Amino acid sequence: MNKKTILSGIQPSGVLTLGNYLGALRNWVKIQHEYDCKFFIADLHSITVRQDPNVLRENTKKAVMQYIACGIDPHINTIFVQSHVHEHAELAWILNCSTYMGELSRMTQFKDKSQKQENVGVGLFDYPVLMAADILLYDSDYVPVGEDQRQHLEITRDLARRFNSTYKQNIFKIPEPFISETGARIMSLQDPTKKMSKSDPNPNGYISLLDPRDVIIKKFKKAVTDSENIVRYSDEQPGIQNLINIYSSITGETIPEIEKEFEGFGYGKFKVAVGEIVADTLERIQAKYNELNSPEYDTFLKEIYAKGAKEAHEIARGKLEQVYNAVGFIGRD
Ligand code: TRP
Repeated sequence: MNKKTILSGIQPSGVLTLGNYLGALRNWVKIQHEYDCKFFIADLHSITVRQDPNVLRENTKKAVMQYIACGIDPHINTIFVQSHVHEHAELAWILNCSTYMGELSRMTQFKDKSQKQENVGVGLFDYPVLMAADILLYDSDYVPVGEDQRQHLEITRDLARRFNSTYKQNIFKIPEPFISETGARIMSLQDPTKKMSKSDPNPNGYISLLDPRDVIIKKFKKAVTDSENIVRYSDEQPGIQNLINIYSSITGETIPEIEKEFEGFGYGKFKVAVGEIVADTLERIQAKYNELNSPEYDTFLKEIYAKGAKEAHEIARGKLEQVYNAVGFIGRD
């Protein structure tokens, strides 16, 4: 009965990608019965870069639908929208007061993102502290994070330990990274040294979960590879390596099996094969998504995230109360 808690969030700053699916969502589906899972849409995080309000609204709803379409069962998991649970912002404030400028300045994601912007918002700088609040509110045991979020989990652990020791109480549980055996790291189709990202200005770099079949095939045909033309897995051929990873991650075939299967075929045929298999996989998700994306499901969706927010709030409220008490805030009653 005592299931471990896993918590993760995805920003609604655009469409979800094949990278999100193979690297995260698909694994969440596999573990949803074993763990107590809390999955949320990180809308507070998404406004650290400018969002069009109407687009953000749309993307948030779409993200909920895509979670469900990918197979996350809203009846056994808690799916919620971050801004619906006000404790996230409140705990972030408390944690801010014991976070050092220096440690946030060292975050590589901040360094990268701030270089791309002219006016760097405080929110972007503070992003990891809000993420720490997300994690610590729920006594999360595990957080499934990719390479790019590892540093943020590290700072979360530091902040939790610091708080516990400052106030001499064991208020926060120290979260661990969740390493799944199957979580593939999917790279951009246009620059295979970079992670596939929905914020890529070039849409050929990523596959959206909602891309139609012909677009998917076209994008794979255009995928950047070298000129060796031999389907072989090597670090010197990051483009083809990425395509092999995608193929393997969907079919479950091993790398030697795939190399053998495509021996003598050249890249052209292999790219189409990868495109087809991706399109087949996404077709099922899209069918479910299209079903949910109709007015008759509006109430159903609202019920899902209302239920999620209620469940999340129950837990978050208790944790925040402990925190407020520890720092010396007086209660209302
Ligand atoms: N920063 C994460 C990302 O961009 C999203 C996120 C926000 C998150 N809060 C979280 C992930 C808490 C895990 C746990 O991928």
